[in-house]
Amino acid sequence: MHELIESRWSARGYDPTATISADDLTEILEAGRWAATWGKVQPVRFVVGIRGDTTFTAMTELLTRGNKPWAPAASALVMVCTTDDPDDAKAHDYGAVDLGLAVAQMSIQAVALGFNAHPMAGFDTEGARVRFAVPDDKRAMVVLAVGRLADDPSTLSPEVRERDSLPRRRLPLDEIAFAGSWGQAFTTGA
Ligand SMILES: Cc1cc2nc3c(=O)[nH]c(=O)nc-3n(C[C@H](O)[C@H](O)[C@H](O)COP(=O)(O)O)c2cc1C
Repeated sequence: MHELIESRWSARGYDPTATISADDLTEILEAGRWAATWGKVQPVRFVVGIRGDTTFTAMTELLTRGNKPWAPAASALVMVCTTDDPDDAKAHDYGAVDLGLAVAQMSIQAVALGFNAHPMAGFDTEGARVRFAVPDDKRAMVVLAVGRLADDPSTLSPEVRERDSLPRRRLPLDEIAFAGSWGQAFTTGA
């Protein structure tokens, strides 16, 4: 795998003093803007908060209990929105695919710039709709935290330290990649 993909992970132990430059944040947003988009619709929108500004603070207030203890130490929070159209399944579903692709590209760009990116669905989406005037035809799905890892883990809470040290696991490839028929593991024949 490419080292940028290999070194991406969803951390919590951010340095609460680290800042992000306008150039770096713009590059991360550009990476999202240039993600593939179904039918060239480009449904994805961003609401961008930089730690210390009112957008960032409002977003931290919308986070769920599990995210509030760590995400406010991020340097930026980017709320990612896409199509909300229950009457048009394609626009609705593929809008979510577009959003996922944008978040993935932004995460990798963040790693390339020395940041960690952590996606969160744990926030009050209806509260976000009201606070940020998200229109009816859009829905907020993810807040992407972008932060620098704390240099000194002893500055972090024991909970954050413990969660960040848990092993990361995935299902083995032969359980998720098939050929011939569903459930038959894909093999290279090697
Ligand atoms: C759509 C989505 C929503 C997520 N929401 C949260 C969240 O609210 N809080 C959180 O701590 N992590 C959240 N995560 C991060 C996952 O927990 C994380 O990706 C998973 O544990 C795998 O770890 P890794 O990203 O380090 O590979 C979310 C990830 C995705 C893709």
